[in-house]
Amino acid sequence: MLPEFFEFQLPTKINYANHLAAECGMEIEKLTGSRAFIVTDAPLVAAGVVQKVIDGMQASSVEVVHVFDETPANSDTEVVCRGAEIAREKGCDIFVSVGGGSPIDTAKAIDLLFTLEGDLSDWEGVGVIDQPLAPHVAIPTTAGTGSEVTFAALVKDRSRNEKIIYQSPRLAPDLAILDPDLTVGMPGWLTAATGIDALVHAIEAYVSNERQPLADAMALWSIAQIGKNLERVMADPSNLALRGMMLVASTAAGAAFANALVGAVHACAHACGAHFDVHHGTANAILLPHVMAFNLPDAADRYFDIARALDLNVSGKSHEEAGTMAVEWIRRLIKNLGLPTRLSEVGVTKQGIPELAAYAMTDGGMFANPREAEEQEIEALLNRAF
Ligand SMILES: [Fe+2]
Repeated sequence: MLPEFFEFQLPTKINYANHLAAECGMEIEKLTGSRAFIVTDAPLVAAGVVQKVIDGMQASSVEVVHVFDETPANSDTEVVCRGAEIAREKGCDIFVSVGGGSPIDTAKAIDLLFTLEGDLSDWEGVGVIDQPLAPHVAIPTTAGTGSEVTFAALVKDRSRNEKIIYQSPRLAPDLAILDPDLTVGMPGWLTAATGIDALVHAIEAYVSNERQPLADAMALWSIAQIGKNLERVMADPSNLALRGMMLVASTAAGAAFANALVGAVHACAHACGAHFDVHHGTANAILLPHVMAFNLPDAADRYFDIARALDLNVSGKSHEEAGTMAVEWIRRLIKNLGLPTRLSEVGVTKQGIPELAAYAMTDGGMFANPREAEEQEIEALLNRAF
């Protein structure tokens, strides 16, 4: 049955090709702006990934004016303010982000502050931004966060120990350049953790209370591709065809959850990131099987579809049995990938769990989670994941 109402937006143009970075200037110059501010991080500069983008812009009419490589793993508001100030000083008029979720989200927030001015806190929350921003080209180097097509930027406010969300379709990048070659150098653990992040986006979008048919189609396709290819790419990391499939699956999952939202895995992972600086994809990997098991009674029919997308043999199985098979298959996948499976392995303390549960209850992800949860239930879930 179709929902009574739904809305699906994908404001970002998406271009895909192997080695597309080498020609990225041709697409970037179609946007307005001629003075580019690149937002990235130091390891990507050191690995030569950013240079590939700079080289690709060489022959275009867009000049690279500044490379801002200060983005930390969990970006913060101080970095955003510094970036916006430099972009103004240098007279930049177009933003190019190169990296995983942190540089892309940082570029979104820098663009916001650069264009609309005022104080970053003026723009916090959902739907506050109603004016167009300077053009932003996102070039992901992980597969991934999906941030190259989503409408949100998540940035930590270290003084408040909180992850702040800025959310509006205005924050969606104008152009996403998908080049599998840029993801080849990712370390194995990051390939695994970001791949699971993308899987969580697709699963949470598919079971969300805000689910809708167009997002469903992208989410299910993404689940099938990640299920088929994530372990293969771990075993064969320089295989561009596998890298490409993971990258497009991640973008599809991003488009799905930008419209259908995420759930309790993300609510809890955001709490772990805000309080204990746990890597986002790693936190998701630890939490996913626990949240799936918790949600199963209220989402069994959707988990049945997920089990089918994962190519599990569900013939003759009930929705609950097939859902349980999907949860167990994913639990095994995460173990096989060598990712941590307990919060105690990634710096979370037992005493911190009540605070994490309280934080998760305030996160937007709880709103779309298919099973309504009390704070004590989330605390119990986090204890099971500890
Ligand atoms: Fe995520």
